[in-house]
Amino acid sequence: MRLAPGPGREYADRAVTSLVWISGASAGIGAALAASVPFPEARVVDLSRRGGTVEHFPVDLSDPAAWVGVERYFEAELAGFSGERVVFVHSAGTVVPIGPADAVDAEAYTRAVLLNSAAPQVLGRAFLRATAGLTCEKHLVMLSSGAASTAYPGWSAYNAGKAAVDHWVRTVGAEQPPLEPLGAARAEGERAGAGRAEGERAGAGRVGGERAGVARGGDGGGVEQAGGAGRIGCRVIAVAPGVVDTAMQGEIRAVDEQAFPAVGRFRELKESGALVSPEDAARGIWSLFERELPNGSVLDLRKLPD
Ligand SMILES: NC(=O)c1ccc[n+]([C@@H]2O[C@H](COP(=O)([O-])OP(=O)(O)OC[C@H]3O[C@@H](n4cnc5c(N)ncnc54)[C@H](OP(=O)(O)O)[C@@H]3O)[C@@H](O)[C@H]2O)c1
Repeated sequence: MRLAPGPGREYADRAVTSLVWISGASAGIGAALAASVPFPEARVVDLSRRGGTVEHFPVDLSDPAAWVGVERYFEAELAGFSGERVVFVHSAGTVVPIGPADAVDAEAYTRAVLLNSAAPQVLGRAFLRATAGLTCEKHLVMLSSGAASTAYPGWSAYNAGKAAVDHWVRTVGAEQPPLEPLGAARAEGERAGAGRAEGERAGAGRVGGERAGVARGGDGGGVEQAGGAGRIGCRVIAVAPGVVDTAMQGEIRAVDEQAFPAVGRFRELKESGALVSPEDAARGIWSLFERELPNGSVLDLRKLPD
């Protein structure tokens, strides 16, 4: 059963066991991720400007004024959530404007810097904050790129943004409390639910102090904040998906060599059929949710460890 959209919902029927936010799910890899969420009874929300085929939270993520609205939305939607899993996959990004930094349009460049570098950090922080008091499985996945480590001329805002994402993920992964094995929080919730008095909400997710060391935060944010031994960490990873056949690749191939000297390589990849489909990229990304990875891992789907 699918709940109607709207903030502050009560998860009274407890049908939603996974709450999945995907930024940039109106197109490309994000859309393929939204179409193939592997969790039963998942509520899937797209954060983008256009919207796609799933529930839509309209937002221009290159506008810093919009970021606080996303944080409030996370908090409102988590109020009363007692499911097994919360997920935020940040896929929104842009490679335009393409060209030398001193030649591209200033306004478009500023938007690209804000979207690629700043939005992942600010929205990632918002997700961590909003989910800090939950003891269900928590996953934060940032879409990265080989451009994080290859200095492609013409892509400065993109290269730098992905490098920022990778290092943010390494740092925040190191900050997170220890992780419970995948599935552990659900098992505990089931045990707790079995022994709880009638009328109490059985909560695999929010425990509100039932668990040792979890206390209410003091900033009035309305979300329990964790501190101490009982905190459950969020799994934070960055993943480069390979060269994927999306509109972004079309934008890359459309420019000339002056703007992007490596354009020939990307045209060849398309012509030789070497691009990965968005569906395969999505499958690879979802497969990471079954792996126990060191927190803060920065991965490339083309070079996954066995
Ligand atoms: N394709 C590749 O080869 C490749 C390779 C490595 C990494 N990646 C990364 O994978 C992610 C997805 O790329 P893609 O190829 O799927 O790109 P895409 O097809 O161009 O889709 C981009 C998505 O980002 C959203 N977006 C762009 N600007 C936005 C804004 N200002 N506010 C909110 N949403 C915005 C778009 O939604 P709206 O336009 O509706 O807002 C769209 O859903 C990106 O982070 C990209 O850097 C892609």
